[in-house]
Amino acid sequence: MAAWIDVAARDELVCGASMSVYLEDGREVALFDVEGVVHCTDNVCSHVKGPLGEGHLEGEIVTCPWHGWQFSVRTGECLDRPDRPVAVFPVRLEQGRILVDPDGALGGSGPGGPLGV
Ligand code: FES
Repeated sequence: MAAWIDVAARDELVCGASMSVYLEDGREVALFDVEGVVHCTDNVCSHVKGPLGEGHLEGEIVTCPWHGWQFSVRTGECLDRPDRPVAVFPVRLEQGRILVDPDGALGGSGPGGPLGV
């Protein structure tokens, strides 16, 4: 069963922007607005844990701010290291709020990420 968590107001995330969100249980997710569609990934880069929510977003590709690895925020695929994807999580919008299901990972995860891999 999905465990939806309210993580932000929809209008906090402007078009083309990214942001890090720190959950109460210590996990981190990153939100991205790609042409008006909200995507959510693990915030922890699969290289050495850089904050993807602070990365530069271009289209659906975010560039990690620490060493430049690139990820699809839609699929979690790592363009630099296909063997090191990050998890992506389901997103739902409800009454102007962004809800995510951090237990419903759809992809891989880096060290220390929500899947604990
Ligand atoms: S921590 Fe993300 S590229 Fe190094």
